Amino acid sequence: MGIVKEAISFELENNSFILAKTHFFQTPYIVHFVSEVACRKLRQLYLIVRMILSITTEPIMNIDYFPKTKVTGAAFCNRTNERAKLGKYIKIGRHCWIQEYRRHGKTSLVEQTIDDIHAENDTKIVYQRVHLRFTSDIDNVAKKIISAIDNLARTMLTSKLDSKDLHHLLSRGSEILSSVFQKLTPSLRVENTKLQVSTANTYDLDTLEAALKGLDKLANKFEFRAVLFIDEFQEIGKLKNFMQVESSIRECLEDAKSTTFILAGSERALMSQAMTDQKRPLFNHTQTFELSRIKAEHYQTHLNELALKQWNEDLNSKAFERIMFLTQRHPYYVNSLCDELWFRDTAPRAEDVSNAWEYIIQIAARENAHEITSLTPNERKVIMGIAKGINTRMRSADVVKKLNLAPSSIRSAIEQLTKSDRIGLDIKTNTYYVVDPALATIAIQES
Ligand SMILES: Nc1ncnc2c1ncn2[C@@H]1O[C@H](COP(=O)(O)OP(=O)(O)OP(=O)(O)O)[C@@H](O)[C@H]1O
Ligand SMILES: [Mg+2]
Repeated sequence: MGIVKEAISFELENNSFILAKTHFFQTPYIVHFVSEVACRKLRQLYLIVRMILSITTEPIMNIDYFPKTKVTGAAFCNRTNERAKLGKYIKIGRHCWIQEYRRHGKTSLVEQTIDDIHAENDTKIVYQRVHLRFTSDIDNVAKKIISAIDNLARTMLTSKLDSKDLHHLLSRGSEILSSVFQKLTPSLRVENTKLQVSTANTYDLDTLEAALKGLDKLANKFEFRAVLFIDEFQEIGKLKNFMQVESSIRECLEDAKSTTFILAGSERALMSQAMTDQKRPLFNHTQTFELSRIKAEHYQTHLNELALKQWNEDLNSKAFERIMFLTQRHPYYVNSLCDELWFRDTAPRAEDVSNAWEYIIQIAARENAHEITSLTPNERKVIMGIAKGINTRMRSADVVKKLNLAPSSIRSAIEQLTKSDRIGLDIKTNTYYVVDPALATIAIQES
């Protein structure tokens, strides 16, 4: 059930109840009912609890509930199934590849899952994220990953060895590092009162492999699970000798006993190529982890909780539906839109949502000006059509007529737009959709 933070007991219809406020799944203020008798009036009780909590919880403005970057804790909406599944994979050492478009919550999911594992307190884990954007060559990739390994090694050493006895820590720590990072020349020192580990001073593929293997040995020795999250992994595929880098990483992935690798990237098509092309070293070496958009019902619970905190009432159902419709549940845009709405003194109505969306669109049009102007005229026509609902059987006579394009032009525009992650295909309904809802609105407005 998590750690109980506060408890309230009271009587209702001659039954006594205890309500406990916990940090279950890291979402504060989820309430558990411990009833001495069966409770038929759960809904009634739930409303009472929410009223009590809305009075006793901290003011909403002190916490960023709608961040534009990664999110964890109270601002994180649901994804309980994904968190449980990813948490399990991490613990059993199954390497994962998280597949989703830009700004859909990959980093947030990983970091929230790591927080969950820490809170469960049944597995000792150390975690580091490496961001490969702006990598220029192999040495640069090696340097970034090795720097994360150094941090992981430092965390394990300081938590295992007695840090009060500095002399012992340095001598014993150096001994251990030399024994696990065998092909390297690791060093341990104190810099600005902080312990620093440096496993390598040259950065190339050999040192990278040796450092990854050393990390695994150290984690194994200390009975830790080391989690290395390599974000924007598709950047490796853009380097000259990418096959060599991917081969080295594959070897370390295969041999790892106590390290779990999580790979993610925001360029979906390139990531997919790196993981599913039979000629690429990492083919079939990771568990695909598809991350779909958060369900409307989960957003409803989440946003209602935040509305209650802010205005002491549920979100108007028409306003909620409009948020879901305009943003298409794209998490970045849900947050951007709600951020505007939650500045209001009163709870928004549907028309307030539409007005705030206009403002979001203006900003998005400015931010994405380059992306929009780089589309070819045919790609624009196809995007406009899809945004307006011409989104299935794309080469049928009807669509050809409506778009006023030859079938071959439609096909190549769709191929290009899919490759550049601008449109996606919903396999269940066999319909195309514009990935970025702001682009979809701009396309409709300009058609
Ligand atoms: N579970 C969630 N609950 C609420 N908001 C979320 C959730 N997941 C993601 N978001 C929001 O979505 C946006 C993108 O999140 P995040 O940075 O985790 O995505 P990403 O896929 O890693 O992005 P990028 O492709 O840029 O690396 C942020 O605004 C974040 O706050
Ligand atoms: Mg990310």
